[in-house]
Amino acid sequence: MPANSPLDQSVALVTGASSGIGEATARRLAADGAAVALVARRADRLEALAEELRGAGSTAVTIEADVTERAAAEAAVQRAVDELGRLDVLVNNAGVMLLGPIADAPVEEWERMVQVNVFGLLYCAKAALPHLLEAAGSGPRGTADLVNVSSVAGRQVRMGSGVYNATKHAVGAFSESLRQEVTGRHVRVSLVEPGAVATELAGHNRPEVLDTIKRRFADIERLEADDIADAVAYIVTRPRHVAVNEILIRPTQQEQ
Ligand SMILES: NC(=O)c1ccc[n+]([C@@H]2O[C@H](COP(=O)([O-])OP(=O)(O)OC[C@H]3O[C@@H](n4cnc5c(N)ncnc54)[C@H](OP(=O)(O)O)[C@@H]3O)[C@@H](O)[C@H]2O)c1
Repeated sequence: MPANSPLDQSVALVTGASSGIGEATARRLAADGAAVALVARRADRLEALAEELRGAGSTAVTIEADVTERAAAEAAVQRAVDELGRLDVLVNNAGVMLLGPIADAPVEEWERMVQVNVFGLLYCAKAALPHLLEAAGSGPRGTADLVNVSSVAGRQVRMGSGVYNATKHAVGAFSESLRQEVTGRHVRVSLVEPGAVATELAGHNRPEVLDTIKRRFADIERLEADDIADAVAYIVTRPRHVAVNEILIRPTQQEQ
């Protein structure tokens, strides 16, 4: 780890760190000097990442938790603080995307999206907030960061993704309200809105929906998870007086 890395002395908690954007982001924040708390349900995947990061000289703890369970989300944040001593950055990234026409949809898919994308994110944000306020008030950076991972779907509504759109619009609305509430105390609340990224996300869809998604993006070179990790790292390494409120980042060929 190079001396004077931008996140030296900082602790970051990343939800959904077992794959895709969360995994890449945890790796990147650790490379930038943060001690990282890795949260998701697949403990084996978290442990493999933690081993890799420790091998590279970073501090990493794994926390197996389902963020849709409020007590588990709260306990995850508390464990990160207990084991790593503080909390400077929360990356609220865990999410699911289950698409398809509204009329045909299994309502269980809607419930899952609302539970993970909205309630999971809210529980983690609420539990982290006192620690972020404390870090902003007394930590070496004089600021703290809450990064919420939304989507292009949080800006642009499309037929076939109604409830996913609804959950990500909720993330955007919540983020902006919270930003106004805490920015005076130097907690920066940021929104990252990726377009299509090559991860496991689409793979949880029903086969007919997956076919539609694959056709839509067949001719597009999708973003890599590292591209989004870059955006998160940019946000959280700005000087204290700079708040990057929102980053919308699409593959170059993605029109909508
Ligand atoms: N990929 C894209 O094209 C794209 C575009 C825009 C926005 N996004 C957003 O980016 C975020 C990350 O998605 P990804 O693309 O990296 O997909 P991914 O590879 O499927 O990662 C999703 C992560 O969320 C975690 N997760 C899901 N349910 C959870 C729960 N109940 N409790 C705790 N963790 C849970 C998963 O871990 P476990 O299964 O181990 O719990 C996994 O680590 C999501 O919010 C997604 O909406 C992705």
